[in-house]
Amino acid sequence: MDDLRTRYLGEIAGAADEVALERLRVAALGKKGEVSLRMRELGGMTPEERQVAGPALNGLKDEINAAIAAKKAALEDAALDARLKEEWLDVTLPGRRRARGSVHPVSQVTEEVTAVLADMGFAVAEGPQIESDWYNFDALNIPDHHPARTEMDTFYMAQAEGDNRPPHVLRTHTSPVQIRAMQERGAPLRVICPGRVYRADYDQTHTPMFHQVEGIAIDRDISMANLKWVLEEFFSAFFGTTVKTRFRASHFPFTEPSAEVDIQCSWEGGTVKVGQGDGWLEVLGSGMVHPKVLEAGGIDSSKWQGFAFGIGIDRLAMLKYGIPDLRAFFDSDLRWLRHYGFAPLDVPTLHGGLQ
Ligand code: DAH
Repeated sequence: MDDLRTRYLGEIAGAADEVALERLRVAALGKKGEVSLRMRELGGMTPEERQVAGPALNGLKDEINAAIAAKKAALEDAALDARLKEEWLDVTLPGRRRARGSVHPVSQVTEEVTAVLADMGFAVAEGPQIESDWYNFDALNIPDHHPARTEMDTFYMAQAEGDNRPPHVLRTHTSPVQIRAMQERGAPLRVICPGRVYRADYDQTHTPMFHQVEGIAIDRDISMANLKWVLEEFFSAFFGTTVKTRFRASHFPFTEPSAEVDIQCSWEGGTVKVGQGDGWLEVLGSGMVHPKVLEAGGIDSSKWQGFAFGIGIDRLAMLKYGIPDLRAFFDSDLRWLRHYGFAPLDVPTLHGGLQ
């Protein structure tokens, strides 16, 4: 019996896993186990022998059961330790940062401009960026060979050999959307058309792709006075301060009369401040829509008249948010975007209900 005890307790202590433990349990205490067989032999013993062997065998059985239970617990502990070591977690580490984008100044300012003008009753219209030369030029009273065609540094679309039709262009301004809006909506009309435009030009204040917003209002009795009021209201709401405007006589083929509009500003220490001082900054072109343009849009020019204007959005963004170089707008430099970009609710807007 001592041999059995020594052997089993030794093997239990050395068991590698639960399967090995179970095998030992069956070998010792199973139906045909060594200890069980001994117990069965008790029947053939004398009462005296049985009195000694019985309790001893029971004791051995208990001892083996206890050793197996203890070893099992030890194995489980070791397994847990190993797992804990492997699934190690440092709860003091900083959390994982989620990358957060920002709203590009052009998107931001387009939103702001749209919100102000929409509040004044203008609907938003859009048109294609690849435009026929009729919409981009002819319909706007810029005939073939007109100097304005070359002045605009137009990008022309490639054409198949032998195709003699005038090539399409990347629209050089948002003004063609005026024509499309007149054709689609008729008069009376109040729309703005924000969007991308293209010209072959590149320096600190020019990029080959930039953004404009066009405005047009057609009715029976609209005059330059309405234009001036709308623009002053617009600039004051946009810059958040009263902004005076100055109209200078100018020329555009699509308006008659035409005016370039400056806004009041000061230049101090190299920075521009809008709405103060006695300096002026040119920001847009405008005028009364030329009768030929109304007719191209399918509107009877003997009954209707109106004003139109075109503003550079990127320029407005530079002015309002003090951004010095236009070229950086389109470099996709993350540092620039983080610095000049906006969180969605940074600037209170009319449509956001925060003003
Ligand atoms: N289309 C002109 C440009 O890109 C801007 C402009 C001037 C638009 C006068 C107008 C306007 O609607 O009336 O330079």
